[in-house]
Amino acid sequence: MSTDAIVLLKDDHKEMRRLFKEFQKAEEGPASKRQQLVNQILEALTVHTYLENEVMYPEVRKLLPDLEDDILESYEEHHVADLLCAELAAMDASDERFVAKTTVLIENVEHHVEEEEQEWFPKVREALGRNQLQEIGERMIAMRKDAPRTPTAPKAIKKAVDAVTA
Ligand SMILES: [Fe+2]
Ligand SMILES: [Fe+2]
Repeated sequence: MSTDAIVLLKDDHKEMRRLFKEFQKAEEGPASKRQQLVNQILEALTVHTYLENEVMYPEVRKLLPDLEDDILESYEEHHVADLLCAELAAMDASDERFVAKTTVLIENVEHHVEEEEQEWFPKVREALGRNQLQEIGERMIAMRKDAPRTPTAPKAIKKAVDAVTA
């Protein structure tokens, strides 16, 4: 298995896109299926944004000052996703706004992931060596085990607060 940071993050993106598609397919089905998929989406996003906020983003910001604006925009996009995730975590799948809120979350995350993959990950890959990307990836792998898994976990909330006050 690759330890390259960008490979790892793109694998996460792929899994998110798969869950988003599953949710879209489940829009007409039973609410319990949508609830189950949203739980999975919230877990995937909580872990992923945690690893990016705690490792990838600060590292890129430090090593590649030219990408500062991209990183700042990414933190803000995570913040919007954090708010939607926290609201969804407190909402029941039977709520009339559940599908609408999930759809807005999916649209936001798809846009964000697209920007990471198209606009600034390639610049990071070009500027950093393979060893550096592997070292960042190894730190993310180590951190993943203890990463928060729900939007209301203390570590997830601390991450969200740090990102807007840093
Ligand atoms: Fe991100
Ligand atoms: Fe990402």
